[in-house]
Amino acid sequence: MKNFISVSDVTDINALVAKALEYKANPFKDKLLGVNRRIGLLFLNPSLRTRLSTQVAAQNLGMEAIVFNVDKEGWALEFTEGAVMNGTTVEHVKDAAPILGNYFDILCIRTFPSLKNREDDYSEMYIKQFIKHAGVPIISLESATLHPLQSLTDIITIKEHLLNSPLAAGRKPNVVLTWAPHIKPLPQCVSNSFSEWINAWGEANFVITHPPGYELAEKFTKGATITHNQHEALQDADFVYVKNWSAYNDYGKMLSNDASWMLTEEKMKITNNAKVMHCLPVRRNVELSDEILDGPNSVVTQEASNRVWAAQAVISELVK
Ligand code: CP
Repeated sequence: MKNFISVSDVTDINALVAKALEYKANPFKDKLLGVNRRIGLLFLNPSLRTRLSTQVAAQNLGMEAIVFNVDKEGWALEFTEGAVMNGTTVEHVKDAAPILGNYFDILCIRTFPSLKNREDDYSEMYIKQFIKHAGVPIISLESATLHPLQSLTDIITIKEHLLNSPLAAGRKPNVVLTWAPHIKPLPQCVSNSFSEWINAWGEANFVITHPPGYELAEKFTKGATITHNQHEALQDADFVYVKNWSAYNDYGKMLSNDASWMLTEEKMKITNNAKVMHCLPVRRNVELSDEILDGPNSVVTQEASNRVWAAQAVISELVK
């Protein structure tokens, strides 16, 4: 693995999941692997889980982890090639990234999309510029279109449940990604990424359900069953992943905020006693009801805790 930007960087998902679960069982088994190595975590956007779980993961491997909130503490970065920098940006990524590459052995970056210009967002210019100019491995802490550490975590969490309570012989788990209401338009990253990882994993029957107009980019969803009928999708589901996203086609728009799409206990009755997943943070009683989040089927805390083991497995592959 050279970088960790998408599922394409991973040759064997199950091997990476197994490695993460080994770290969960024995967090300090490679505590000397990263000694005298430094990891830089650059945030252009807020975070709780990603920031802290990646720091903990690096420290479990003996690495020093330094967080830099670029959006609050750094110079405003310019990413456009050939820009005449007579506006608000102060430093070009071409100048900053090689310096950071000298300070750190691995660089991790979180950026969000603008949700204004689809072409710009889906070009992944920010992450690509760091890959081009930093000269060290880059880990995405969520980019404009993807959130690979979250998706690896999600598969770890699904796998963990399957190991603890296997389904009937030979049956693949039924995994459903369902759109949920929200008060504002959110990126498509988590949903794109979950879709591409579940499709690449190939060990689940995968259904995506959303209201009309919320179709995700086909390059991520190809292979999944897609339906506007949430009731039909939830039938016999083993895992239900709840997430809001804004429109991809009518880019960045919130087309509807239909509260009837919120997952409820009543809807859960048609699932196979499904585990309910969400990447967090979650707007309670907008995206997901209290009754579900506080109930026995919610695995959101376990899922968020697993972020450490996903990050540890990925960092261990990239530390030299
Ligand atoms: N799921 C996730 O990425 O959480 P944070 O935004 O808190 O990092």
